[in-house]
Amino acid sequence: MQMQAQRKPVEHWRDYLVPQGWNEFSDEDHAVWDLLFGRQVELLGSRVVSEFLDGIDLLRLDHPGIPELGELNAILEPRTGWRTVAVPGLVPDDVFFAMLTERVFPVGNFIRRREQLDYLEAPDCFHDLFGHIPMLAHHEFAAMVEHVGHLGGAAIAAGEGHRMARIYWHSVEFGLAMEKGELKILGAGLASSFGEAHFSLESDAVERLPFSAGKAVNTPYRHDAFQPRYLVSKSLDDTVAEVLALTPEELLAL
Ligand SMILES: [Fe+2]
Repeated sequence: MQMQAQRKPVEHWRDYLVPQGWNEFSDEDHAVWDLLFGRQVELLGSRVVSEFLDGIDLLRLDHPGIPELGELNAILEPRTGWRTVAVPGLVPDDVFFAMLTERVFPVGNFIRRREQLDYLEAPDCFHDLFGHIPMLAHHEFAAMVEHVGHLGGAAIAAGEGHRMARIYWHSVEFGLAMEKGELKILGAGLASSFGEAHFSLESDAVERLPFSAGKAVNTPYRHDAFQPRYLVSKSLDDTVAEVLALTPEELLAL
């Protein structure tokens, strides 16, 4: 998400789509995916919520090479109604939230270069597919992300888009969660990051505070550096239930 991109009416979110053109990815692109995938799975081990690892298996993301979106959607869409689409890069927040309301997840149609494996500037297909899509195979989380889209649209219409951007950031992107008494990675930005995955769990130099929607709304974030604080869900189910129960009116009052 970003706020500065050129604006188009939300109803035209389909104008942002591009063909994935899977055949145009080079052998080197696929090799970079395999390198990123292999090292990230090893790095994460069991440091991520179990639903994420279930999603990797269900969606067969361990298949070599950059996933072909049609093949991925053939598994994902019958399961939770979500599908992936290719976009050139970041889309404006209102367009992004409109996509979520239709269970459409945009995937940056490029992959970082081997020389920039820890590249963080804009989400590429490794971040989007490896980080986000496994959790969209989980029924309750899938429902929550659609609701995030509805809340986000309402917040933007009220001139308060940052409220939902912060909830999204502190859960879907950079959230942590407790699971069976252990601190785990929940967010896609952490699950797909080589440097920040361990940092978020182990650094003594950051704050870890209990997640609530109200806390998230009132907690700014960094998009250009590691987070100085992380919000920790009591459990994945707890955060899903809280966000799903949130109404636009309540969001604007937090
Ligand atoms: Fe993301």
